[in-house]
Amino acid sequence: MEENSASLAGVAVSKSFGPVQVLYGIDLTLRSGEVHALIGENGAGKSTLMKVLCGYQGPTSGHLLLDGQRVVFHDSADAEHKGVVLIHQEFNLAEQLSVEANIFLGREMQAGALLDRRGMHDRSLQLLRELETEIDPRQLVADLSVPEKQMVEIAKALVRDARVLVMDEPTAVLTAKESEVLFKQIERLRQQGVAILYTSHKLDEVKSIANVVTVLRDGRHVITAPVSDMSVDQMATHMVGRDVSDLFPQKSVLAGSEIVLEVEHLSVPGRVFDASFALRRGEILGFAGLVGSGRTELMEGLVGLRHADGSIKINGAPIRIRSLRDASRHRLAYLTEDRKGHGLLLNMRMRPNLTLLGLDRFVHGLIDEKAEEKALEKAISDFDIRAGDRTVRVGNLSGGNQQKLLLAKTMLVEPDIVIIDEPTRGIDIGTKQQIYSFIDRLARSGKSVIVISSEMAEVIGLSHRVMVMKAGRIVGELEGRDIGEESIVRYAMGLAGSAAA
Ligand SMILES: Nc1ncnc2c1ncn2[C@@H]1O[C@H](COP(=O)(O)OP(=O)(O)OP(=O)(O)O)[C@@H](O)[C@H]1O
Ligand SMILES: [Mg+2]
Repeated sequence: MEENSASLAGVAVSKSFGPVQVLYGIDLTLRSGEVHALIGENGAGKSTLMKVLCGYQGPTSGHLLLDGQRVVFHDSADAEHKGVVLIHQEFNLAEQLSVEANIFLGREMQAGALLDRRGMHDRSLQLLRELETEIDPRQLVADLSVPEKQMVEIAKALVRDARVLVMDEPTAVLTAKESEVLFKQIERLRQQGVAILYTSHKLDEVKSIANVVTVLRDGRHVITAPVSDMSVDQMATHMVGRDVSDLFPQKSVLAGSEIVLEVEHLSVPGRVFDASFALRRGEILGFAGLVGSGRTELMEGLVGLRHADGSIKINGAPIRIRSLRDASRHRLAYLTEDRKGHGLLLNMRMRPNLTLLGLDRFVHGLIDEKAEEKALEKAISDFDIRAGDRTVRVGNLSGGNQQKLLLAKTMLVEPDIVIIDEPTRGIDIGTKQQIYSFIDRLARSGKSVIVISSEMAEVIGLSHRVMVMKAGRIVGELEGRDIGEESIVRYAMGLAGSAAA
C-alpha cells in the first residue's frame, strides 16, 4: 500500500451504542482518485462507519489516518475543515432557509465586513446549473422535492472543496437521469484527485461507477476487492450470505375482474389532469413515468393529501376522501415516498410509530400497551426489522429499517387497497426480495395493490397491469406480456404512436 496516495483510512474501527455493538474492527482505506463503494444489508453499519469517518461520531475504539497521519475529528465541522465531507442519507438541510443559504451555511462568503450575497447567489446558481437542475437558489428548501433536496446537498458538498467526499446513498432518491448527472460530477471530482466513498443498494450502479468495493455484513468487514473482480451476483451473495438471483415472485393469475377502486376524471389543480383508472381485486397495478409525471400527486389527491376533483368509487359506492384517516376508514392505505417528511415520528420509539394510524384499535379507554407490544412483535418478525434494541428512537434505525417500519405501519390497519410509493427505496437486495414476495402474497390473498416506482424493473417485475403517466396525464396502459421497458419508455417519453410498428 502506498502511504502517500492514501487520503483517509479507518483502522480497526469499532462502534457501540450503549450495549449494542454496530461495528467490529473495520479497516478501510480511501485513496485519492478512487471511487470506493461500501455495500451491505440494511443495518449492516454503513452509515455509522461513514459518520465515524467524517467526524459525526467518535469510534468506540480504533482510529483514523488522514494522509497517513493519525487524526481525531472533534466534530463534523472539524472534519469538513480538513476536507472530509459527508452527504447524509437522511437530509441535513435547514428547511426554512433558502437553497443558497443552505449551500453556504457555515461557509458564508464575505465582501469586506458584509456577507457577499450576490457572490453566494451567483455561485449557487452556477453549481445548480452544473448539476443540471432548474432549482432557483432563492427558493425555500422546504418547497423542494426529494430529488431536488439531494441536488442541493451535493451542491453544498461541492462548495466545501472536499478532498474526501463521503456520500450515503446519494442515488436512492434520484432517477436514472439525475443519477447520470451525479456520476458525471463524481467522475470529475475523482479525476481531480478527490477520494470518494459512497453507498448504494443499486448494485448495477456500483458495478459501473466504483473502482473498489467493500462489503459489510452485521458490522463486520467481509471483503474489499476491485469492482472488476466482482459480479453483481457475487456482491449480493457477500452482502446477504445467500443467493438472491430470483428477485421477483411468479405473477399470480387474477381470479376475476371485480373492480374494487374506480377513479374517474380525477384532477389535482396544476398537477394531474383528468386521470381515470380502475383497480381489480387481487391486482398489482403499477404506475410508471418520469419523476414529475404526476404519479405521486395523483395518489396524494386520491388519498386526501391534496385537494382533488373527480369521482372515486370503492366497491361501486361513491365516496369522498379528505384525509388519510378517511382513506383508512375505507380500508385504503397509502405508503408515502418521503418517510422523513410525512411517514415517521423520528423522535419516538418504534411502538407508537407503528400504532399511530391504527390507534383506534389500541385504545379502549386506555392505550392497550399489550396489544401494541404484540403488534410490534409481529411487525418486527413479518418485516424482518433489525434494530439493536426495540426501544431505539426511530431516527436511529438504519434507513432501510425505517422503510420496513413504515410498511408495517401501513399494513396494520388491514387495508383492502394499498398504495405504495417507492416500496424499496434504500432497501437492500435481500429485503427487496422479501418485500416483493410480501406484495405478491397481499395480492394473492385478494387485496389490491398500486405500486409507484421509478425502478423500471420493479414495475415490470411485479405488475399485472401498468399505467404510464406523462406531464400529469395517464398516457398509456399496458397489460400482461405487453409490459416491458421499451413500451413503457415509449409512452413516458411521448413517443408512442409515432414509433409504433
Ligand atoms: N445513535 C444510535 N443509537 C442506537 N443505535 C444506532 C444508532 N445509530 C445507528 N444505530 C444502529 O446501528 C445499526 C447500523 O445502522 P446503520 O445506519 O449504520 O446501517 P446501514 O448499513 O446504513 O443500513 P441502511 O442500508 O438501512 O441505511 C442499526 O442497527 C441501527 O439501529
Ligand atoms: Mg444507511
